[in-house]
Amino acid sequence: MSQARTVVVLAAGEGKRMKSALPKVLHPLLGRTLLGHVLAAAAPAAADRTVVVVGFGADQATAHLAEIAPQATAVLQAEQRGTGHAVRVALAAVPEPTGTVVVLNGDVPLLRSRTVTALVEAHEAGGAAATVLTAQVPDPTGLGRVVRAPGGGVERIVEHRDATAEELAIREINAGIYAFDAALLRAALGKLSTDNDQGEEYLTDVFGLLGAAGHPIAAHLATDVTETLGCNDRSEFAALRALLRDRVNREWMLSGVTILDPATTWIDVTVRLERDAVVDQNTQLRGATVVGAEAVVGPDCTLIDTTIGAGATVLRSHTEEAVIGEGATVGPFSYLRPGTRMEERAKVGAFVETKNATLGAGAKVPHLSYAGDATIGPKANVGAGTIFANYDGVNKHHTEVGEAAFVGSNSVLVAPVRIGAGAFTAAGSAVAQDVPPGALAITRAPQHNSAGWTPRKRPGTTYADAAARAGARGETSHRESAGGAGGPAGDTAGA
Ligand code: UD1
Ligand code: CA
Repeated sequence: MSQARTVVVLAAGEGKRMKSALPKVLHPLLGRTLLGHVLAAAAPAAADRTVVVVGFGADQATAHLAEIAPQATAVLQAEQRGTGHAVRVALAAVPEPTGTVVVLNGDVPLLRSRTVTALVEAHEAGGAAATVLTAQVPDPTGLGRVVRAPGGGVERIVEHRDATAEELAIREINAGIYAFDAALLRAALGKLSTDNDQGEEYLTDVFGLLGAAGHPIAAHLATDVTETLGCNDRSEFAALRALLRDRVNREWMLSGVTILDPATTWIDVTVRLERDAVVDQNTQLRGATVVGAEAVVGPDCTLIDTTIGAGATVLRSHTEEAVIGEGATVGPFSYLRPGTRMEERAKVGAFVETKNATLGAGAKVPHLSYAGDATIGPKANVGAGTIFANYDGVNKHHTEVGEAAFVGSNSVLVAPVRIGAGAFTAAGSAVAQDVPPGALAITRAPQHNSAGWTPRKRPGTTYADAAARAGARGETSHRESAGGAGGPAGDTAGA
């Protein structure tokens, strides 16, 4: 880097057309707020200092900034008196900047960092006093127009509402991204008037002032117009979200990820996928999610801050802050909540909810279960309908299921409790005491069969008829079960 650089992001406006309590720049778009996107685009321009001008919802904006860019300084523009005023307030709040000042509107989320870098480098290399990012657009309504100088440079920028009929015909617009010589910018900001349709200090007037004083002004034409699109209401948000989705999906496909239905696949810009991962339709990958090589996700999944190992599969499920190990399988229709950790080849099947639960390698929770605050050992099998009763109404308690333990179907494990390695619990048991390794726990009431009950109590019904026919065929009992011992019958063997 040849010169000192200061980045100023303008984010004080309310964004009236959003009709929202939340400042516009804090609305999210595929993994970052608008402000987050703009800061990410500016980051590689390697600023020595980054200033964000906040105003509407300043407390929220400042708190968000502290989270996403703690090295940046928030500066309050108490009244929004225009973009020029905003930059003036920003520069007054920091030590006198030298070198280049890069100014970015806070509502241009599709801007690419390489475009910002190219703009700044062209500005510095060409020795311009000011350089503006421009684009040729089919419909420039509402935007500032770039009035070219006869020699090809820029004469000035005129706002839509202040433009003449002739100027309104110009299709080259101001994208709201600029590089300035710091000293010349500061001097020009001191001369801004409010003599315009909105009675505001326009940053764009700096161009006319510097041009009139004979300083060279440059324009940097964006090759991809979508990068310059602003975002003013929720309908424009939706349009930009779809554009960003397409861009993100295309980049992943070109880097070796299969996306079966890009139109219904929404991948946050913060997500990472490895080679030969497959994403099936109607799937959202959000936040810090990482999808390993050859993993298959979808259809119909929402994964938030989830790490998926190589070769794992997740089908029609919702996961949050979960770690899914290599070759593990999840779904369909399961819900992995924060703190779920599945080691390699572990299985969570259908209609299972987990929270703060570790499944060891090859452990299985195949059907209709809740596992909360649990450590499930490697190769353990948790039968259908098992509930880890972790909450006593006041506190949460932990349950440990040992290696290769076998929890019979419809068991309730009342925490805190430990099921030893290789131990069994009989189907339908409520287990509130530790089970030693290798033992069988059974808490069912003994079964009593009342012979001939149906013909006595339900004579003349289809039930009684069926029982009579079975009797005629000589059927008596399917199985001896008096005494209720048996085993953990009804297990599902982790199918
Ligand atoms: C601005 C440009 C216009 C350009 C357009 C590109 C001016 C005068 N006009 O118009 O030429 O085509 O961007 O999108 O600059 N802001 C503040 N403080 C203020 C006013 C605005 O921080 O007092 C912030 C807003 O939050 C926003 C950005 O500056 O992030 C741009 O303001 P906005 O009102 O959206 O300007 P436009 O009318 O879109
Ligand atoms: Ca705008």
